[in-house]
Amino acid sequence: MKKLSVKLGILFFVIIFGLMTFVFFFLHEGIAESRVDEELSALQARGNSHRAILEKQFDDETIDHVVLMESESTTDVVVTNKNGAVLDSSTQATPFMKYLQVPSSPIPKEGKILEGNWAEEPFIATISPIHIDGEVTGFVYMFQNTSSVHSLIEGLNQHFILAGWLSVFLTIIIIFFVSKGITKPLIKMKEATSQISKGNFSVSLPKTSKDELGDLAKSIELLANDLNYLKHERSEFLSSISHELRTPLTYIKGYADIVYKRNLAHEEKEKYLKIIVEETNRLSELIKDLFELAKIDQNTFVIHKELIDLSNFFTNIEQKLSPAFQEKKMNFEQQSSPSICLNADPWRLEQIILNLLDNSMKYSQEGANIKLRAYKVKNSIHIKVQDNGKGIPEKDIPFIFNRFYRVDKSRTRSLGGTGLGLAIVQELVHAHGAEISVKSRENIGTEFELIFRG
Ligand SMILES: Nc1ncnc2c1ncn2[C@@H]1O[C@H](COP(=O)(O)OP(=O)(O)OP(=O)(O)O)[C@@H](O)[C@H]1O
Ligand SMILES: [Mg+2]
Repeated sequence: MKKLSVKLGILFFVIIFGLMTFVFFFLHEGIAESRVDEELSALQARGNSHRAILEKQFDDETIDHVVLMESESTTDVVVTNKNGAVLDSSTQATPFMKYLQVPSSPIPKEGKILEGNWAEEPFIATISPIHIDGEVTGFVYMFQNTSSVHSLIEGLNQHFILAGWLSVFLTIIIIFFVSKGITKPLIKMKEATSQISKGNFSVSLPKTSKDELGDLAKSIELLANDLNYLKHERSEFLSSISHELRTPLTYIKGYADIVYKRNLAHEEKEKYLKIIVEETNRLSELIKDLFELAKIDQNTFVIHKELIDLSNFFTNIEQKLSPAFQEKKMNFEQQSSPSICLNADPWRLEQIILNLLDNSMKYSQEGANIKLRAYKVKNSIHIKVQDNGKGIPEKDIPFIFNRFYRVDKSRTRSLGGTGLGLAIVQELVHAHGAEISVKSRENIGTEFELIFRG
């Protein structure tokens, strides 16, 4: 496995090394060039000053004097007449012969560089013309051995090589720490995720940085908390299911045994059989609800939306439920502003409203008023189910949409509730992209509101 830190390190190094080579190359070229230029202009200046002396007095004695001055220095001088014949030189003039021809074109007064190619030629050279009474009388040639320039450049190269190695060394050290610094939190996060996959959700990551890595660390912790919550919820859900299944089964088994083993009177037998039938119904309802939730969880259920005229829809619901309301001696009222059309799945919407009305019926007393209303606010359609029943205690309100949550377990059981109704309602409402909220006060009543935004 190639480590990220190594990959990052190599990448940084290649980039920095490339840039450094580029910069060093140009710096080196620049410095070398200006050094050589300095040497050439010094040589030219020296030649020009000899020329100035010779222009004042162009005789053997002055030429000797000029030549004598150069004989002790690292540069050499050759003085010729205007035809190129050597008058005198500070050293053997033979090596300089190829430069000593009479120039074909006029030389400017301030002289010119004859040879600047220090890298390949043995000398650099300049020429300065001697003007007397406006006539060219001779030339002063200056020569400097390029070995001195070479040693100058060599010294420069050595400095550059040293600086280069130092930079490479420092770069490697810096890259080492930087790439470690970047990959260290990543390694920690990788360890945390493998802990999570092993089921240990109590991971904590340092949240020092406020960048993308810090955000990632926060997300991983959030994920661990969510997974922890889901794990708890799942085990609670499973224990609730087994409890809910066990209770009716215990009843069924107990009463079936009695009916089977004992010689009972006809009415008694019927009483027990009725309980068995009721409990069986409860079981099949429960399994139906669970199946429904499982379908929603797996996203395998589909919503077929169509335009529903709410006023017709409510009338249908009223017809369906009026026998039940009459039996319980409750008043039901439905009302929808005319021509409200809602884009929803009619079968699912009915399921939602029936569940809410079923709750209102179950958790209200005789004579209660139950209302179903729909109205429009701007582009949203609001549907409200309201009752003046026993209400929900404030502390329970945040949990009533949880699976198997019932406010009063023993009493609701006698009413046949399993605590799955609102969980299913909420999922169905969300599947429509709508919202559900509840307002309730104990002994005053409850109101569920659905909002379908347009
Ligand atoms: N209109 C209401 N008035 C008072 N309490 C309510 C009302 N609606 C719901 N509740 C409370 O919320 C709990 C959860 O309701 P939910 O519909 O999920 O379950 P349930 O009615 O007990 O069972 P199920 O609907 O699965 O048969 C109920 O047990 C009840 O305590
Ligand atoms: Mg219910």
